Amino acid sequence: MSDSWKTAVKAVIALFLLECFILYAYHFLPLGYFNQEVQIKYSRKESCLHVLKMQNYMCTLNNSMEELLMTTSVPKPLTSTEKEEPDTTVLIWMWPFGTRFDLGLCSSAFNIHGCHLTDDRGLFNQAHGVMIHHRDISWDLSNMPKLPRPAFQKWIWWNMESPTHSGQNPLLKDLFNLTSSYRRDSDIPVPYSWLSDATEVEKNYTIPKKEKLVCWVVSNYNPNYKRSHYFNELVKYINVETHGRHFNSPVNHDEYLNLVSSCKFYLSFENSIHRDYMSEKLFNSLALGTVPVVIGPPRENYEEYIPSEAFIHVDDFPSPKELADHLKLLDQNEDLYRHYFTWREHFVSKRTKFGFEHACRICEHIRKNKHYRVVKDLNSWYWG
Ligand SMILES: *[C@@H]1O[C@H](CO)[C@@H](O)[C@H](O)[C@H]1NC(C)=O
Ligand SMILES: *[C@@H]1O[C@H](CO)[C@@H](O)[C@H](O)[C@H]1NC(C)=O
Ligand SMILES: *[C@@H]1O[C@H](CO)[C@@H](O)[C@H](O)[C@H]1NC(C)=O
Repeated sequence: MSDSWKTAVKAVIALFLLECFILYAYHFLPLGYFNQEVQIKYSRKESCLHVLKMQNYMCTLNNSMEELLMTTSVPKPLTSTEKEEPDTTVLIWMWPFGTRFDLGLCSSAFNIHGCHLTDDRGLFNQAHGVMIHHRDISWDLSNMPKLPRPAFQKWIWWNMESPTHSGQNPLLKDLFNLTSSYRRDSDIPVPYSWLSDATEVEKNYTIPKKEKLVCWVVSNYNPNYKRSHYFNELVKYINVETHGRHFNSPVNHDEYLNLVSSCKFYLSFENSIHRDYMSEKLFNSLALGTVPVVIGPPRENYEEYIPSEAFIHVDDFPSPKELADHLKLLDQNEDLYRHYFTWREHFVSKRTKFGFEHACRICEHIRKNKHYRVVKDLNSWYWG
């Protein structure tokens, strides 16, 4: 065999190996990378098409549909797991303060799906959540559920009163799995009201006609409350129109609505001062078109719920006299007064549906959070 033949064989082998390497590199190294790129580009194109289709679809919607979209919340399409999951049963163990509330549909009221609200204690063993209203629990717990509770079941401690107005009970340790109250550090926080986006129609707002300057309606008067001291000083400098049981001038519901909206300012004075505790005294004022003058937690806490220009805080002034002077100034200056309503161009105050909204939000929470949870020491959390 000649040397030239050997060289030729070596060359063929070398070429073969080179070929193998090229094939290997072509299939496994760069192309794999390019494949990905192609896929990314392709899916981007897909989503672009999808977006275009959506835009196109949005474009073809006519005005009446657009209006509908603006004024009502569009139900989100259910994901497949949401569809398959069985309904969550929330049992209202006792009616709050012994008063029934309407059990509507969480789906139409809050766009929360898959909830079954009931007060039928016969469904205790099926209930995923049992709502227990703090102020209705008897001191010896004799009206609490008695059967052993199913392993999946969660008991919800529910309370909208401030710690000052809720009795502590040492027996309530280690009983509950979730808490629902106005406080933001509850598992299911539900404030007395939310400011929500105003619809186009709601943005067209007119301040109600005013006949009175400062008003206050109070039934539960206690001379030791901070608000009583403040009020007694304030009336030395400005006239306050007073109503309610304490002033021997009770008002019914309609009279209350008319009265409050006819006042330029309303004293939204809370009975006790606690973080996040802003009751209907504040939110009614906002909804009824008066400017709330507040006593409650610090201004910063209020500003986490409502715009800074929507209210007057007594702490903004060194003393009741300066507050009175400011209110008199606003009474004389329409532009300054109107400034307190600029928030109404964007938001409306919508009252929480007491009980019903809690039940729906509790249901939503239980559906989303399957984890184990125990409220170890209710007393030190709420009253501590
Ligand atoms: C707009 O929508 C309404 C209600 O969906 C429909 O009755 C009407 O025919 C539509 N108009 C046009 C021009 O598409
Ligand atoms: C609920 O809390 C109780 C104790 O308070 C506990 O025994 C139970 O296992 C908890 N259940 C769930 C589902 O978290
Ligand atoms: C706003 O409301 C007033 C009556 O409150 C009405 O006369 C007016 O037409 C409304 N304007 C718009 C733009 O809807």
